[in-house]
Amino acid sequence: MEEQTLKVQKIRNGIVIDHIPCGMALKVLKILNINGDIGSTVSLVMHVKSRMGCKDVVKIEDRFLDEREIDKIALIAPTATVNVIENYKVVNKHKVELPDEIVGIVKCMNPRCITNQREPVVSEFKVISKNPVILKCKYCEREMGVEDIIENIL
Ligand code: CTP
Ligand code: ZN
Repeated sequence: MEEQTLKVQKIRNGIVIDHIPCGMALKVLKILNINGDIGSTVSLVMHVKSRMGCKDVVKIEDRFLDEREIDKIALIAPTATVNVIENYKVVNKHKVELPDEIVGIVKCMNPRCITNQREPVVSEFKVISKNPVILKCKYCEREMGVEDIIENIL
C-alpha cells in the first residue's frame, strides 16, 4: 500500500480528489475544465491498488472547488473523497454526496425538452438511482445514465 501511495508527491496547497472509481480521472479533469492551459501543477494516477480494489487519484495544486464542482464530481465519481490541503496537511476531508435533485448542472439530452427551447427554464433532474447514477428530467421525464450525463454536463 505504502509503495502505491508514494507514486505521486504530496502537495503543499490545493486539493486531492481521492477514491475516484478506476478509469474516471480524466473525466473528472474534463468536468473541472482542466486542460493543458492550467498554470498550476496537476498530478494524476490511474489504476492504483486500494482497499476497494482499484482507484484513480487527482491532485491539483493551488486550486479549490465550489459546491457546483463538487456536485459534478459526485455525479460521475460517487465514491470520491475531496481533501483540502494546506501547508502539506489535510485540513478538510469529505466524501462527495449526490443530492436528490440536480439543478442547472446537466443539460437534458432530449432536444425537444422545454429546457432546450429558447425559454428561461433551468434544467432539473430527480436522482432516481445513485448506483449506477440515473437522472430523470423533471420536465420531459427522459432518463439519463452516466455516459449521457458526462456528455451533457454544463
Ligand atoms: N495528500 C497529498 N498531499 C498532502 C497530504 C495528503 O497529496 N500534503 C494525499 C494523500 O496522498 C492521500 C490523500 O491526500 O491520497 C488523503 O490524505 P490522507 O488523509 O493523509 O490519507 P488517508 O488517510 O489514506 O486517506 P483516506 O482515509 O481518505 O483514504
Ligand atoms: Zn428534459
